[in-house]
Amino acid sequence: MSPAFDAFRYAHAHRREVVWLSQNTNHLVPPEVVRGALEEAIAERRYEGYPLGTGDPELLERIEADLGLEGMPPFLTAGGTEALYMTTRALLGPGDEVVASDPSYLIIHKFIELTGAKVVGPDIYRPPFRLTADAVAAHLSPRTKMILLIDPLNPLGSGYPREEVRAIAELAHDHHLTLINDVTYRDFSEGHSLAAPFAPEETVTVWSVSKNCGLAGLRLGGFSARPPLAKTIARFNTNDLGVNILAQVAARAALRSKPEWIDAVVRTTRANGQRVQEVGRSVPGVTAPVSPSRANMTILDIAATGLTPEAVQEELLRQHGVFVRAGSYLSPAHGGRFVRVSFSNPPEQIARFAEAFPAAMRALAARPAVAH
Ligand SMILES: Cc1ncc(COP(=O)(O)O)c(C=O)c1O
Repeated sequence: MSPAFDAFRYAHAHRREVVWLSQNTNHLVPPEVVRGALEEAIAERRYEGYPLGTGDPELLERIEADLGLEGMPPFLTAGGTEALYMTTRALLGPGDEVVASDPSYLIIHKFIELTGAKVVGPDIYRPPFRLTADAVAAHLSPRTKMILLIDPLNPLGSGYPREEVRAIAELAHDHHLTLINDVTYRDFSEGHSLAAPFAPEETVTVWSVSKNCGLAGLRLGGFSARPPLAKTIARFNTNDLGVNILAQVAARAALRSKPEWIDAVVRTTRANGQRVQEVGRSVPGVTAPVSPSRANMTILDIAATGLTPEAVQEELLRQHGVFVRAGSYLSPAHGGRFVRVSFSNPPEQIARFAEAFPAAMRALAARPAVAH
């Protein structure tokens, strides 16, 4: 790997040619779903004024209906990321502990650590590749304040059976802990169960329209919780003047028609996921340990090939214009073993991956070890 290679800078500079399999974004929602609404809002120059501070009322209703969480009105933020920041900032302090997994979406762990709290929790890089209530219970201490349940889990693509969600939620309830239930990838997971109905007082459901509605660039998400908890979190709202008006317009349009297109998006995503795992496994030494993925991404474990994820990422991007993500930002313990590949993309882009991945692995294996 070249020491100064900045994959994101390179990929953005070449974005028209690059197949973007690196951020679990969704490129399958028909563009006409939001195009008309955005064009109308732009024609009306709605961006000149502030939106209604609390959010577009129809959008709020649609989010609430989509989640099906009554009595937990949605609070809009600039992406689920901001909701996660606010929740950790509002509820944690020095000395507190949060039970979370490794691998995980480590940006949340960073937010936890910024408050002075500490992440504790099991290494889940083995079956069932997710938290279990027993593992969570084993990590509880008098300092525990929160449990982080990401379902399905980025980066592994593992999902939680209803009974496990219930058992983890009951632990949160019994021990008076906040349960962050990050459901960013919920729509991709068949039979998904929200945690909030099992621990309504303790759960903060963090959701997003980035992945299900294919609106990542517009930055809209939020959280839903019972009013007393929501009020405590909302003290740290920085969007007093509302979140991006074009994002709200697009999300409202997408949610209006979601029942018409979501099944097709999920079907194509699943078929793509199988293909990506097959292609991965066709290379000697590569495994797809979490199969099938219940999200729109999978990891490919390349440890047995002796190659580094960074070398694979760079080779695929530079030589083939295919952008996958090295695992290091997703797992302190195992990030050196895997690349993550996302697949809510048109099948022809997955075909590009299918050609590029074996070729890139062959080319790297043939190079002198120093180049790895
Ligand atoms: C588990 C998880 N939570 C939250 C987010 C944040 O999404 P956004 O800020 O785009 O809503 C992501 C993005 O990749 C994620 O993987």
